Formats: sequence, C-alpha cells, structure tokens
Amino acid sequence: MSGAGMAGNLGMTRAAVHKRIKKLRDQGYRISGTTRQGYRLEAMPDRLEAPVLSAGAVLGRPFMNFPTAGSTQDEAKQRALQGAPEGLLVAAERQTAGRGRLGRVWISSSGGLWCSLVLRPALRPDQVPALGLVAALDWARAIRDRTGLAARVKWPNDVWVQGRKVAGLLIEMSSETDRVHWIVLGMGVNVNNAPPRDLPVPAASLAGITGAPVSRGALLSRWLRLFSRSYRLYQRRGFASFRQAYLRFSLLEGRTVAVDGPEGIARGRVAGVDPQGRLMVVGSKGTSVFAVGEVSLRLGRNDA
Ligand code: BTN
Repeated sequence: MSGAGMAGNLGMTRAAVHKRIKKLRDQGYRISGTTRQGYRLEAMPDRLEAPVLSAGAVLGRPFMNFPTAGSTQDEAKQRALQGAPEGLLVAAERQTAGRGRLGRVWISSSGGLWCSLVLRPALRPDQVPALGLVAALDWARAIRDRTGLAARVKWPNDVWVQGRKVAGLLIEMSSETDRVHWIVLGMGVNVNNAPPRDLPVPAASLAGITGAPVSRGALLSRWLRLFSRSYRLYQRRGFASFRQAYLRFSLLEGRTVAVDGPEGIARGRVAGVDPQGRLMVVGSKGTSVFAVGEVSLRLGRNDA
C-alpha cells in the first residue's frame, strides 16, 4: 500500500506514516518499501499480544510479557499473593531460572512459550492434580489444531509428539486443607526454540518437528479458548467429563511402564485413568492406583 494512501486513510501526514513504519520495523515487522509501489508487509514477528490472546477467552487477562524473567512462576506467585485476579497470565521471552516438576531445571531459551496462569478455583486441594490433566489435554488439542500434529498426553501433564516431550506443566498452589486459595499453572512449550539436549527424556520443539516456524500467539490463544471452557466445566462436573477424551489422547494406554509413586516403584500395564484422574496400573500383584507419580516408558520415535 502506498504511503500516501495510508496517510489519507488514517488522516495523518506521510511523514507520520513513515515514522510508524520505522517503529514497526524496530519491533521486528519486516516491511519492504519502494517509492513506486509503497509498503509491503513481508512478515510479522511472533509476538505475544494481549488482544490476540484474549479473543474468545475468559482467562489470559490481564496479560504481562517480560523480555526476561527468572521464572514466570515466581512472577505470577508474587502477584497472586498480592491479590492478583484470576486469569492473570505472565509470560517471558526467556527464563533464567525456569523450573520443572520435582525440582528439575527447565531450560527456557527464546522462541519457546513460557508462561504462568493465576487461577482461583472453587476446588479442594485434592481436586487440583486432575485439573492439570485437563490443562495438558487442552495443550494436546491446541497443538493438534494449530500444527496438525498428533499430540498425546503423558500422565500426568506432559505433552508428547512422535516419541518426544514438547510441553510440560507445573502446578503450584496455596491452600487450606479443604479450600484452594490460588493456583499458578506453569506451562512450558518448546515451540521455535532449540530443544534442550541430554535430558532424561527426549525433547523436541514443534518447529523442529513440522520443519516450519509455529506461531506462539496462535497456539496460546487456542489453548486459552479451550481451557477457559474446560476450567468452568471442571469446577462444575469434575474430571469425569474429560476422562474419555483424556484416554483418547493418552500416550500410555496399554503400555508397560514403571511408576515412581509415594509408595515406591510399581511396574505394570496402564489400564486407563479413574474418574478422579488417577493412573491405574495392572501389575503382578493386582491393580495399583496413583494420584501422583512419575512414569517412565521406553519409546521408539514412531510410537507416539
Ligand atoms: C515439567 O514438565 O517439569 C514442567 C515444566 C514447566 C515449565 C514452565 S515454563 C513457565 C513456568 N515457569 C517456570 O519456571 N516453569 C514453568
């Protein structure tokens, strides 16, 4: 579009248009310009923008995006303690002290999606782990919807694609014995970043798998839409309404696994999740049920 045309449409001078084009270029928009043909938008940066994210979603606002944070979990927790409203989403382009489940380090270089959502659900603390299962299920759906990849959930709340982990969730909360005050749901998705190497489980990024950049904004906004609905439904009906879908997306169904749970390690074949979202494993001594635990499984690249 010509500079003069834009100036006319916007009711400003050509110099003012030029100034704004420069500003957009500084923000990473690729805009070519020739005197005869005018300006042309060649590519947009993969920025996380509040209006894009919140379209059709209740959760995800207010929204903050830090260029660098230690951990978005800490940023969100600090705000939750100070009374931040449900729905606050804190993101960072990179984290210097990202953390995973069980005290592990979570490597968070730029290009990935690193964010933490503040929730204040009407739930008991024992109902929180299965909410994590629902959040992971919605990540698998969002990844499928935005990339076409067959994403799977690995109990409790990892997302795997083609035998490799692409996303993980970390839930931290403050509660009384029978009432949750707040939850901070931390989400790490390897999108366009180089996936970390030499981890105990193989990791991959979505762009690495599809061979093309994936829009973090589109992915996150899809998840926010899905999870805004699921979150409401979960508080009304519990995990039972999600159980069938979780099983359809489950990576572990029928697989032989080892589960490291509170009562030690159990081996056996996965026989689904119960209506509370607990993992059921059939071993030589009968069926064991796990509300929490770490599952290991040997996988080939094409198994997921
Ligand atoms: C896991 O699979 O172990 C969970 C990983 C959770 C990582 C995310 S990235 C955003 C948020 N901030 C953190 O420090 N951790 C979570």
